[in-house]
Amino acid sequence: MKIVQITDTHLSPNKTHFNGNWEPLLDWIFQTGADLVIHTGDLTVDGADQEDDITFSMDLMRQLSMPVLIVPGNHDVGHLPGSDQPVDAARLERWRRLAGPDYWVSDHGNWRLIGLNSLLLGHGDTEEAAQFTWLEEVLAARDGRRVAIFTHKPLFVDDAHEGDTGYWSIRPAPRQRLYDLLAAHDVALFASGHLHWAWKGTLENTALVWGPSSAFIIDKLEREMPGERVVGAVIHTLGEEVMSEIVALPALTPHYIDEVIDEVYPRSASSQVEAAQ
Ligand SMILES: [Fe+2]
Ligand SMILES: [Fe+2]
Repeated sequence: MKIVQITDTHLSPNKTHFNGNWEPLLDWIFQTGADLVIHTGDLTVDGADQEDDITFSMDLMRQLSMPVLIVPGNHDVGHLPGSDQPVDAARLERWRRLAGPDYWVSDHGNWRLIGLNSLLLGHGDTEEAAQFTWLEEVLAARDGRRVAIFTHKPLFVDDAHEGDTGYWSIRPAPRQRLYDLLAAHDVALFASGHLHWAWKGTLENTALVWGPSSAFIIDKLEREMPGERVVGAVIHTLGEEVMSEIVALPALTPHYIDEVIDEVYPRSASSQVEAAQ
């Protein structure tokens, strides 16, 4: 089966900076003949606080004629405790009501696809505990199927055993718990978004893929990260194995967040770049 992964579309009815990339992205998705589209979060500019951002963006997603699965990003449901917009009950309720489940399982032949809400990780609360319990159950019940996991935040940025990267990746304690589950359950793919860099790597037997945003890239506001600075999407072909192709899309405008950050994400100067991704 052919899965198109799109990510970090950052759509909004009011902050329209990146909306122009939706139509060419849609056209390209139809050309691929994808069986399924998976969005790995930051669907919206600010669904964490603006209900209209979610309804507007979901209306656009419904223009896709094939099945669509979505996991939320930090701009959709909030982020870590102590951040400007921490995940809370109201934000989760809004996402679940307007966009659907924030974590899910979907079986396709010999493959079990799992969507995780990575924004729950690192809170140490009942929502995080419930998702881990659920994840352990759906992995244990995979019944010989291979597994591909889709989520917003990557496991790590530079090194699998690095310390806490704060905003950028999953915190060390839940990360280790995920590593143990990946190793125990034949997880073939862990695909994410969030960084606005496109990269492929491996961790033991698991392929790691960072999908490129279809909205914007970062020029000088943040340090260089591994991978490529492109706008585009990913095609994952699932057969006996998984093959993942990062596709740069020239039909999309590669907006630089640096040029519009004051309009799109006007926050305190120190948190500007982090606030954008
Ligand atoms: Fe993000
Ligand atoms: Fe993003």
